Amino acid sequence: MYKIAVIPGDGTGPEVVNEGLKVLNAVAAKTGFKYETTTFDFGGERYLRTGEILPPTAVEELKGFDAIYLGAIGHPDVKPGILEKGILLTLRFELDQYINLRPVKLYPGVETPLKDKGPEHIDFVVVRENTEGLYTGGGGFLRKGTPDEVAIQESINTRKGVERCLRYAFEYCQRRNKQKTLTLCGKTNVLTYAFDLWERAFNEIGEADYPDIKRDYAHIDAICMWMIKNPEWFDVIVTDNMFGDIITDLGAMIQGGMGIAAGGNINPDGTSMFEPIGGSAPKYTGQNVINPLAAICAVGMMLDTLGETEAAQMIEKSVMNVCQYKLKSLSAGKMGYSTTEVGDMVAEGL
Ligand code: IPM
Ligand code: MN
Repeated sequence: MYKIAVIPGDGTGPEVVNEGLKVLNAVAAKTGFKYETTTFDFGGERYLRTGEILPPTAVEELKGFDAIYLGAIGHPDVKPGILEKGILLTLRFELDQYINLRPVKLYPGVETPLKDKGPEHIDFVVVRENTEGLYTGGGGFLRKGTPDEVAIQESINTRKGVERCLRYAFEYCQRRNKQKTLTLCGKTNVLTYAFDLWERAFNEIGEADYPDIKRDYAHIDAICMWMIKNPEWFDVIVTDNMFGDIITDLGAMIQGGMGIAAGGNINPDGTSMFEPIGGSAPKYTGQNVINPLAAICAVGMMLDTLGETEAAQMIEKSVMNVCQYKLKSLSAGKMGYSTTEVGDMVAEGL
């Protein structure tokens, strides 16, 4: 019996989570696993109502679940940063979800903005470090608000944090068993401390423990270029938190948009959290027009991580069929179907 915490969150989060849960329910009935869900109301509405971002017991309580399923965090009436840092980043950090796994895969029938590229060219995975780098809040202000103001934002990279991320990426690349190539994305020509550590660790542990995996390196700026020009070069990319954030939005665009891009915040020894990587889309909220496929794919990733491989594959196959034979577009309002109809089709197609 899997215990799943559900955080629908803000904006279109609840709408897409409903469709994900519909598909979860259907695939459980087909493959026979059992689960129960507990819903948490964390998000902008709760914060505006109570002034509380996360109750003090939230993290401990969430540790008791097998997985967390998250819709979206971000509210137009709340200053940017409060909910993102107070909920999303706090959960990633406190639950030590040190991997952010983001597949970039173009399904047949889905339109990519890349000319002359198809599903055979766009199929790679980004392993983003998820607890360190520029995201830790290291730094501060000096003389804030004066003409002599100083703002410092530090990138924290620990050997332990870098190494566990690299090991995960090497092992993921082995399991994936495609090109067996792991590309480190960095900026060793300028960030000569942070990425020196990354590069040394990459080569040391790669040579010692993963000799079957080919190691490749590219600077962040060049990766942005190659992801557009030659996406077929990539198998697994590993990178730090900030660079990973940036290149996975680029990745989402070449795989058809935010409507299909899912990610997992993974603690291999603890509770992981799965989410569509797009935001709360306030302008589409409540209209039954948002694309739920990213949220549905996040359920697939959750089941894969829980070991329900067959269920995960069934979901992916059904999503692929809906993309190829049903939807006119993956964009909100242009799919040719409503949010709930897309969820129904995926559930029925399993
Ligand atoms: C993401 C988002 C978050 C991030 C924001 C909302 C804090 O952009 O999941 O990629 O930067 O990690
Ligand atoms: Mn992002």
